[in-house]
Amino acid sequence: MYADRVLSGMRPTGSLHLGHYHGVLKNWTRLQHEYECLFFVADWHALTTHYDDPLGIENATWQMAVDWLAAGVDPSKATLFIQSQVIEHAELHLLLSMMTPLGWLERVPTYKDQQEKLSDKDLSTYGFLGYPLLQSADILIYRANRVPVGEDQVPHIEFAREIARRFNHLYGKEPGYEDKALAAIKKLGGKKAKLYQELRTRYQQAGDEGALEAAKALLAETQNLSLGDKERLYGYLEGGGKMILTEPDAMLTEASKMPGLDGQKMSKSYNNTIALREDADSVTRKIRTMPTDPARVRRGDPGTPERCPVWPLHEVYSGDDVQSWVRAGCVSAGIGCLECKQPVIDAVLAELAPIQERARIYTEDPQTVRNILADGSERARDLARETMRDVREAMGLNYG
Ligand code: TRP
Ligand code: SF4
Repeated sequence: MYADRVLSGMRPTGSLHLGHYHGVLKNWTRLQHEYECLFFVADWHALTTHYDDPLGIENATWQMAVDWLAAGVDPSKATLFIQSQVIEHAELHLLLSMMTPLGWLERVPTYKDQQEKLSDKDLSTYGFLGYPLLQSADILIYRANRVPVGEDQVPHIEFAREIARRFNHLYGKEPGYEDKALAAIKKLGGKKAKLYQELRTRYQQAGDEGALEAAKALLAETQNLSLGDKERLYGYLEGGGKMILTEPDAMLTEASKMPGLDGQKMSKSYNNTIALREDADSVTRKIRTMPTDPARVRRGDPGTPERCPVWPLHEVYSGDDVQSWVRAGCVSAGIGCLECKQPVIDAVLAELAPIQERARIYTEDPQTVRNILADGSERARDLARETMRDVREAMGLNYG
């Protein structure tokens, strides 16, 4: 609604691997230069599936935070925090739960999917059903309008949009709303006020979406309105009340193309990962013992790169020259597999070196990591409190 604000969260899974780096963290480090960014450890979300075994979550949080920092997420650019340290998320979750139809939660596609996938756990719990609503609260409490997530999470963002819309519809009307909106229009000044009214009429009478966008743009560039008046006028455009919560958009993160050591996608559950803090010997050993094209039984047997799990790694790490060398050497048996793997080993080690160097600084000084997350949590709390003031007021909970 105002300036773009990006928010994303990650469950604390402990140490991260190259799949996380290529899939998520590189994206975050880019976004932090382009937008106001908030990134948080979703430790309560971990509890929705690990409620029976919560004691590992804290350590997993610290390890993951070290890896974020090591990968270049910069606490002077982005706000890094821990969900449970901003308890306002829980208050918003509770208040939203009052107006959330059960059917909406039951229809979120991940609900039944995950229950089936994690069938060794009893996930017929209140918390697990409410997971997408907690995620909505995470987003809406910052009025974040852009949420980088993978494809699997898109239904959750759509759900958050519906919740915001329903909330604004139910509670967005304030006493004397119409009069206040008209007074705010006056403050726009003659020409702008007239234009705003015209655009609003075109949208409301003819459904002209372009007019809606133009009116929103007009408000966005208006400097002399208070935040409250601006919100009123955004709301007045669409005929409803005041927009208290902002509808977020998913920023689709391309699925990680990072291949694992066996040719499948890199994932802890496939046991095919290279951790960001894995030492050089272990990285070297893992790549040297990777399976190759099964047709190359002996050094003299020719192979086919497309049938070899090493090839996708060349596609990530090698330039055209090395790729041509691999292709020619493989099909003619001109190079051996260990020789072929060496440029990948070198490239992975080169990529990990600066990450590990930064990680060392933070692991040697865990207090700094704690301070970064404590500062970030405080900053996040200030933003969350602003929204909660409006939410409480809208719901008549302001006992002031
Ligand atoms: N549900 C997300 C996941 O499992 C994590 C998450 C929780 C999240 N709250 C969020 C992501 C808010 C984006 C915004 O990956
Ligand atoms: Fe795989 Fe390279 Fe061996 Fe060919 S030469 S089978 S691409 S490791």
